[in-house]
Amino acid sequence: MQIYLSRPDITQKEIDAVCAVLRTPSLSLGPKLTEFETAFAKYIGRKRAVAVNSGTSGLFLCMLALEIGPGDEVITTPFTFIASSNSIMMAGAKPVFADIDPLTLNIDPAKIEAKITGKTKAILPVAIFGSPANFDKICKIAQKHKLKIIEDSCEALGSSLNGKKAGTFGTMSAFGLYPNKQITTGEGGVILTDDDYLADVCASLRNQGRGKGGGWLEHERLGYNFRLSDINCALGIVQLSRIDEIKAKRKQVAKWYQEMLSSDKRLIVPADPPGCDISWFVFVVRLKDAAAAQHRDKILEAMKKRDIQVSNYFSPVHLQPFMVEKFGYKPGDFPVTESVSKSTIALPFYNNLTKDQTAIVCKTLKEVLDKNLPGV
Ligand SMILES: Cc1ncc(COP(=O)(O)O)c(C=O)c1O
Repeated sequence: MQIYLSRPDITQKEIDAVCAVLRTPSLSLGPKLTEFETAFAKYIGRKRAVAVNSGTSGLFLCMLALEIGPGDEVITTPFTFIASSNSIMMAGAKPVFADIDPLTLNIDPAKIEAKITGKTKAILPVAIFGSPANFDKICKIAQKHKLKIIEDSCEALGSSLNGKKAGTFGTMSAFGLYPNKQITTGEGGVILTDDDYLADVCASLRNQGRGKGGGWLEHERLGYNFRLSDINCALGIVQLSRIDEIKAKRKQVAKWYQEMLSSDKRLIVPADPPGCDISWFVFVVRLKDAAAAQHRDKILEAMKKRDIQVSNYFSPVHLQPFMVEKFGYKPGDFPVTESVSKSTIALPFYNNLTKDQTAIVCKTLKEVLDKNLPGV
């Protein structure tokens, strides 16, 4: 039987909430939108939340609200999902990469300052795999150079650093709600900020540029349809109400993996970095040895052949064909990202993965490593 890479966790409560909305005439821009945004802002601890149709839309609207556009540069990490840098490019600005810290896999603060130019407007750190970036240092750099911070918190709902939640460090932040995330609305995203003006601009941009008190056919600015329907919001409200339970379930799965894999000398097994309380998004082990990493793709294939879904999170952003074509990046430009990317194995990870299933994954992984890495 297949063990999947990720699965949503939908209970009867979510189904009932969605069905209840379907019995009303308010399928979009209705009360569930406001209820979801209020609950989300309260949970994260920020003044305003603006729900949108994806994490990508959320990040893109952050760029527009902060007036980041052609001629501007935003410093980010090349070890992330493509949407982090796409959101910068969608706004017409240039993503400038700083390599990652090999321990945290987040942008290395020591490499940021060298990338700052007169065109730099913002830093976009990503909480990779749910682990917050080093904001102690990043906030100081941003302050010193008068740069905005836009947090890509798409993978980090419920994580915190030194007791402060992911999504509260930047001027703005965006969360993603795709079904593989901690909670889901099917598709969706949420922008967070303490700034009413920025929140109002985002709310207008997501709704065809309509203003607060204006009519349906009055448009204050060029806008988009990035709305999140009340059907999605009803799902999100119930999912968010379960976040503590969801976080605990995911912590348990991570703990099983840690217990079963930590003694394997061939692997680097993730743990909570100091000061972090991780709300686990995925569980990604790495092959310790560079020679072993050459066999990573074979290992992924062998796992899949044995009905265990795994993945290579993440492939370096700067080496994606369209990035190479546009900016001329080449192998070797960001060596830490490149070597980490070659070594990763994302294991099945979701709320309801059982201890027995976790044990099957670990046993299979060890057998596949024995076969593909003899003598390592
Ligand atoms: C780091 C990161 N940024 C942005 C996104 C984009 O979110 P969405 O898929 O909702 O557009 C994702 C989603 O997978 C992500 O992992």
